[in-house]
Amino acid sequence: MKKNLFFTALLLPMMMMQSYAQSGKADKALLAKADATLQFAARQYKLMMQHLPDSVLPRTTNAQDGSLITSKSNWWTSGFYPGTNWFLYEYTKDPAFKAEAQKRMALVQKEQYNTHTHDLGFMMYCPFGNAWRITKDPAYKAVLLTSARSLSTRFNPTVGCIRSWDHGTWKFPVIIDNMMNLELLNWATRESGDKKFEEIARTHANTTMKHHFRPDSRSYHVVDYDPATGAVHERKTHQGAADSSAWSRGQAWGLYGYTMMYRDTRDKAYLDQARHIADFILNNPHMPADLVPYWDFDAPGIPNALRDVSAAAVTASALLELSRYTKRAEGKRYWNAAEKMLNSLCSPAYLAKEGENNDFILMHSVGSLPHKSEVDVPLTYADYYFVEALLRYKQWAK
Ligand code: GLY
Repeated sequence: MKKNLFFTALLLPMMMMQSYAQSGKADKALLAKADATLQFAARQYKLMMQHLPDSVLPRTTNAQDGSLITSKSNWWTSGFYPGTNWFLYEYTKDPAFKAEAQKRMALVQKEQYNTHTHDLGFMMYCPFGNAWRITKDPAYKAVLLTSARSLSTRFNPTVGCIRSWDHGTWKFPVIIDNMMNLELLNWATRESGDKKFEEIARTHANTTMKHHFRPDSRSYHVVDYDPATGAVHERKTHQGAADSSAWSRGQAWGLYGYTMMYRDTRDKAYLDQARHIADFILNNPHMPADLVPYWDFDAPGIPNALRDVSAAAVTASALLELSRYTKRAEGKRYWNAAEKMLNSLCSPAYLAKEGENNDFILMHSVGSLPHKSEVDVPLTYADYYFVEALLRYKQWAK
């Protein structure tokens, strides 16, 4: 009897704790590389802030003439550059990064009232969420809560999802990318005590889990619902190679989104979904040896198809976190895969040379190949998730 009690009260919880990987094993060489790369990123973004005209937000490079393309504040990527500046401020403690983040956030701030986009999570949480986390200035909290209310207006309880786009001939389109916007809603519930936001996030994540994935856990890009009945009308792609193909960044958004949903709710269904997506990505026969995915796992022309560095950056950051929630051998596999991705991204094959690449950090991302838009160029979100992943690596590697 006593023995049983000892086992349940003491030994079992200890064994359970030990079977989870709370931190990954540090690769000393990669830790040094992460530091060198973060220092490079800081120098590169210092150049960016010197070259960037006031009142603009960077987006990418024109693939034809190499000129800088900027982003309007209502474009989904507007928040990544100020968000990356917050990361670099955190890393360097150099107030120039904080000032630059604040200067560019002033351009994005009005989007808190925008109810015509599902991308408020990306646009507002990446800059203002980091600003709040680092400074605890209540002004940032107010902007985020307004943003969460704006995003919530796009939720349809019959469908059980937040509507993604207003454009096109869709009935009620929901894209896998939308999982990323739920982090803002979970945060809003924690900070305001209003459960409504997280309920919307959970409902959206549950509906997406039901309808967005095939049995092998690859996700469709767009699921179009009937807003009157909630029935699935059709499943299509917008940025992938084909309706049934595995668009790489879409897989990365799903992986990151469900890992984040597990972090915020501790609902095991989300953890399992993230694990299945990770396994689909890592076991994919079309994954290149350096673990930087082709722009679509089913892209025509593999092995000569273009890579999408942004997909690698998002995936690496998500895998580092997922490894902390999974059992030892499995966690190690995710951790090691993320390490391999980071090693690749830190190499000259993908990392820009100082003063080149319009001062972006990474080269070779793909925005939307079917639209011939942002093909083989730098992208602000590749930089954002790469810097996040390097910081995570430094924080979690032991
Ligand atoms: N959220 C749009 C994209 O990933 O391109």
